[in-house]
Amino acid sequence: MALISKTLSLVKPSPTISISTLANELKSNGRDIITLSAGEPDFDTPKNIKKAAIEAIQTGKTKYTAPDGMQILKTAIAKKFFVENQLQYNEQNISIGSGGKQIIYNALMATLDPGDEVLIPAPYWVSYPDMVILAKGQPKIIQTNISDKFKLTPQKLEQAISKKTKWLILNSPSNPTGAGYSLNELRELAYILEKYPHVFILTDEIYEHLSYEPFKFNSFATAAPSLFERTLTMNGVSKAYAMTGWRIGYAGGPTELISGMRKIQSQSTSNPCTISQWAAVEALNGPQDYIKNSLSIFKERRDLVVSKLNDCEGITCPLPDGAFYAYPSIDGCIGKTSKTGIKIINDEVFTKALLEETGVAVVFGAAFGGSPAFRVSYAESNEKLVSACDRIEQFCSKLQ
Ligand SMILES: Cc1ncc(COP(=O)(O)O)c(C=O)c1O
Repeated sequence: MALISKTLSLVKPSPTISISTLANELKSNGRDIITLSAGEPDFDTPKNIKKAAIEAIQTGKTKYTAPDGMQILKTAIAKKFFVENQLQYNEQNISIGSGGKQIIYNALMATLDPGDEVLIPAPYWVSYPDMVILAKGQPKIIQTNISDKFKLTPQKLEQAISKKTKWLILNSPSNPTGAGYSLNELRELAYILEKYPHVFILTDEIYEHLSYEPFKFNSFATAAPSLFERTLTMNGVSKAYAMTGWRIGYAGGPTELISGMRKIQSQSTSNPCTISQWAAVEALNGPQDYIKNSLSIFKERRDLVVSKLNDCEGITCPLPDGAFYAYPSIDGCIGKTSKTGIKIINDEVFTKALLEETGVAVVFGAAFGGSPAFRVSYAESNEKLVSACDRIEQFCSKLQ
């Protein structure tokens, strides 16, 4: 009998591993490598948040809490949802986990039976399909196009819905494309979903605070109040407050779902780290100027990277609405040959050749279900971004 379950054998190892392994190998050989594959802000966690955690340790707030989070943090989250998103969630409608990732996993584990389908627009965050598989569901990928700015259209949504559809996962602003849905676009999707009462909506809003004007962020349930009872609104402190390592994510949703998620957490990991929960209370209730400052830095970097990438031969890069990623298409590079004789047959080969020949590490589009493209994370200094883009430009200009 095989040790590893049939379900786990269907789960892919992280597609970014091959690129990071190669990047690390080259680094240890003394090569000058610029890594633009990170999924986290390059800033430090704000001082007031760190201080709140230190105080929690010093005052003995170091014990178990309720499995799905402390009341005081739930109150802070309920206030955030009300003030920023005009959503009225009570404390019993809120779940707190070890990162947004655990929240999504809990929601899928709590609701999926074998054969249930989950609609995932591509390009998608790498973890969605594999989490669905782990929960014994069936990911159903809906391909979006660069001409639709990588957004799901109402027509494609309606075509994909079947009797087996349990969830639609929406992610705005998106990892990897940075695409954000306007109020009107969300309403158009909601109009379709209203007709299918068996479909629930998991809206991943972790990049909410990284939305660049003129794009205006809208929470899905705010845009679609008629679907409030069928929506799980997921968010977290990782990206907004540079707290990726603290592992606090949360969601608001219908009571039945939230208590199902609580049951899973209480029998698996129990409460997210108590000290991190106190830090998250400060993040949500304390001064918010960090968000504004980091937003303006990220916006400047986005403009820099997108403009430089669009100067590269064979590359077209749409302007992202949010997050800290750009998702350039390399359609114009496919079929060409690199300086060292590598034939660019797909985006995986492109990113490997780019890394070997120029020392720039990015993630290939196939990892996100959207080819031929690559994802650049611009959570790096301007100096490194300029140098990386110059190297990409040189690489592209030498393709024949
Ligand atoms: C789209 C998206 N959702 C959720 C997460 C999970 O974030 P965390 O578990 O750090 O809260 C990430 C992290 O990369 C993400 O990119």
